[in-house]
Amino acid sequence: MSVSSCICYRTDFASLKAIADASGGGLQELHAATGCGSRCGLCIPYIRAMLLTGMVELPPMLPNDFKKLGIRCSTLERLVTQLESRGEPVTHDAEAAARLTDSPALRLDQPAQNT
Ligand code: FES
Repeated sequence: MSVSSCICYRTDFASLKAIADASGGGLQELHAATGCGSRCGLCIPYIRAMLLTGMVELPPMLPNDFKKLGIRCSTLERLVTQLESRGEPVTHDAEAAARLTDSPALRLDQPAQNT
């Protein structure tokens, strides 16, 4: 299983990456061009990770995984908190996430970006 699109706007990350590569823009430009991220917002940390890594298929990640990349994800944090408070298990493939977040090729010295 991977995360590869903004589901709300039916926009895959490959298309978003092509727009970003062509324009040199970031999340704001992608949002303006496609609307991505402006409904539920859960794709925003993934889009930021896509822009950071160049990967258009990402493993499902939890807030701590995004923090390793310097990406804050308040919307996802609230969702996880709500699910856990209802006793619903929140799990993911931690090894797959770690392969991405622990990659030495990534620069992790950038300030965290909030979503
Ligand atoms: S998945 Fe992108 S706004 Fe909901």
